[in-house]
Amino acid sequence: MQILVTGGAGFIGSHTVVELSQAGFTPIIVDNFSNSEKKAIAGIEHILGKSAPYYDANCNDEVAMRRIFEQNSIGGVIHFAASKAVGESVENPLKYYENNLGSTLLLLRLMGEYGIKNLVFSSSCTVYGQPDSLPVTEETPRQEAASPYGNTKRICEDFIRDLVHSGALLKAISLRYFNPVGAHESAAIGELPIGTPSNLVPYLTQAAAGIRPKLTVFGNDYNTPDGTCIRDFIHVVDLAKAHVKALQLLNGIDSDNYHEVFNVGTGEGVSVMQLIETFEAVNQVKLNYSVGPRRPGDIEQIYAQVEKVNQIMGWKSEKTLEDSLRDAWRWQLQITNNK
Ligand code: UD1
Repeated sequence: MQILVTGGAGFIGSHTVVELSQAGFTPIIVDNFSNSEKKAIAGIEHILGKSAPYYDANCNDEVAMRRIFEQNSIGGVIHFAASKAVGESVENPLKYYENNLGSTLLLLRLMGEYGIKNLVFSSSCTVYGQPDSLPVTEETPRQEAASPYGNTKRICEDFIRDLVHSGALLKAISLRYFNPVGAHESAAIGELPIGTPSNLVPYLTQAAAGIRPKLTVFGNDYNTPDGTCIRDFIHVVDLAKAHVKALQLLNGIDSDNYHEVFNVGTGEGVSVMQLIETFEAVNQVKLNYSVGPRRPGDIEQIYAQVEKVNQIMGWKSEKTLEDSLRDAWRWQLQITNNK
């Protein structure tokens, strides 16, 4: 079955393309390479040992997208393509609303026209804000988004929910990712941040590789055991496999009309300090870091309850934090050495 993967050259998208292909699906990538590189395609091809068909197109471009739907016999869509820098979204909200909402609306419209029923949407735990109690379940109320980026995730979930409620022939799953980290164990694909990374692990590996002078820990005066923030760090390959499970679940559902949201995390909260110590221990690398002020907008702690995804999708994270940090470091060394 052909699966259209928008943003398929990106961090989570590229790993999902590999897992889909290994599970017997035929992924078709569409990516405009605005925040990814063509070498991700080469990495996918290296792992799979075959070519990975892709379209260099913008998911907001109706003519281009229509051509892709015409030329293929698509059985399902996984929609990753989105602008995702939180800070940039605050400075340039229209870009985020146009890109993220526009592409989702166009896809939903084309899926309806072409009779494609199955959709997996890439959402985020950002929709929960700072929850009142932990771990967060799918029933935990969503909060007012802290950024336009977060708001686009929330609104797209609502687009999909409302369309399903309207009786449209659509079966959809929104996956709320926690913090994806790591890389493929082959080190052929991984995260390729453009410019200075804002996420913890790519910044940390660049600091360890000497590309950045040091890592700053954003605050150690939070109300947590060691004072640093707590997150649920999920290996990107585990996360990619959740998309395969989601598609398989959708394929097996008899009804023409379905929408569910699932948390995708490990269920374990890990502090920034614990992550740094694990990185140093597992890779035998000394990291230069210091503690700085809190980063505005950061939430103190969040981690997932993963019972729903375990039970309904039959998915569970398998890799450990050690695996994630070993793979992230192997990937960093590979890209540094090949520069
Ligand atoms: C952010 C986004 C989230 C998005 C996710 C993608 C916000 C509010 N949320 O999550 O919507 O889905 O990225 O992975 O921006 N840290 C440092 N030093 C650094 C970088 C980070 O101490 O140089 C700390 C942060 O303070 C935070 C933790 O590491 O406590 C994780 O940060 P980050 O990787 O940026 O992810 P989130 O902010 O959790």
